[in-house]
Amino acid sequence: MKVSVVGSGYVGSVTAACLAELGHQVICIDIDEERINKINSGKSPIWEKGLDELIQKHAGNNLKATSDYESAVLDSDISFICVGTPSDDYGNINLSIVKAASKSLGHAIGNKDGYHVVVVKSTVVPETTENFVTPILEESSGKQAGRDFGVSMNPEFLREGKAVYDFMNPDRIVIGALDKHSGDFVSQLYDKVECQNEIVRTNSRTAEMIKYTNNSFLATKISFSNEIGNICKKLGIDTYEVMKVVGMDFRISPYFLNSGAGFGGSCFPKDVRALTGKSKQIGYEPILLDAVIRVNENQPHIMVNLLEEKIGNLENKTIAVLGLAFKNGTDDIRESRSIPAIADLIYKGAEIKAYDPQANGNMKKIFNNITYCDRAEDALHNADACLVMTDWDEFKELDSEFGMMRNKIVIDGRRVVPVRNLEQEIDYVGICW
Ligand code: UGA
Repeated sequence: MKVSVVGSGYVGSVTAACLAELGHQVICIDIDEERINKINSGKSPIWEKGLDELIQKHAGNNLKATSDYESAVLDSDISFICVGTPSDDYGNINLSIVKAASKSLGHAIGNKDGYHVVVVKSTVVPETTENFVTPILEESSGKQAGRDFGVSMNPEFLREGKAVYDFMNPDRIVIGALDKHSGDFVSQLYDKVECQNEIVRTNSRTAEMIKYTNNSFLATKISFSNEIGNICKKLGIDTYEVMKVVGMDFRISPYFLNSGAGFGGSCFPKDVRALTGKSKQIGYEPILLDAVIRVNENQPHIMVNLLEEKIGNLENKTIAVLGLAFKNGTDDIRESRSIPAIADLIYKGAEIKAYDPQANGNMKKIFNNITYCDRAEDALHNADACLVMTDWDEFKELDSEFGMMRNKIVIDGRRVVPVRNLEQEIDYVGICW
């Protein structure tokens, strides 16, 4: 099929490259010339495992990029909206980019004779496709949704770092369509994908809610584990021992029960806030989801408090911070738990030596007054204490480097420090164990 994809960020470029890999003719639409040039020259505009290879394979063949909505819509049957949905100043969803993309698509559809389907893949709060995208498309095209063009909502469940794999091997595909015809169109795109479960067909607001519920539930699991972990810590219980057994209950499952510094990234914090915002807007106070955010925001401060309990005043103390990315395998620092931890340490007068295998460069844009190191051992050298904020595999191998921290404090926020031979040498503190 012929597909155009609006937005060449993380979701857009993965969607475009994977649809090309499935044999479709794909055109990316973006306003950023640099991204367009990158895709057309066979390079990925973002760092994501396996994406460069796919774009290199298909660019110039069945994958191209342009800034011209009109030609892309005329030359395709389906357009995906994959643009950002950032938070506004109050944490609610900001739909301005989705609205602008809908308007541009509508104009182009207005100039097209044949049937066209618009698919929202951006994460948007329930009712957005019905109340904003569809009316904007109708107004700017002068056509009628359901009769002249189709509309559908098709959420993504892509983990950063594993997005290509997740797209090609989905556990479910959800299509929330305005009418059967639009849904059938979208469904055909996935004909060659082996989905673990049947393709779920529903309406757009349900599809939107499925996406938010999914992320909110995973975030709730993490905050729940962190709360249990905080209680365990006070009782001298290892929460990992507890959760290992609790996760054996098939109704709970062993995943996303790892307590620690909390969840970050571009999705969980933003999506839980957007859902609480929507909920309040329609007159329901989301007690549990508010608490999920509160627990999460507290975890980095608990680490700094544990540090103070051990070494007292932090003024002029040198603290090594290992891990800046929001999780391993990425240079993404959005909502990383290391950001509030570092801000807290700076506020308390500490000197910081930070190290991350990928994310030093990105963190420099937020904190330019701390020292960045090229190796973990450089950060640990002469430090008074260390906070471990990200679960990088290489931190699990740092036996001798942590040996340099003899008699010093290591606060582990991710359960990665290899304590086996080190417990005698370092003063090891787990955030929740
Ligand atoms: C998340 C979801 O997992 C995807 O299904 C979803 O499609 C995506 O958001 C999205 O909405 O686009 P991602 O943000 O890449 O994917 O990150 P995850 O791997 O889910 O991890 C999120 C955060 O939770 C990380 O900071 C991680 O360290 C933390 N986490 C995860 C824990 O603290 N404990 C756990 O047990 C698991």
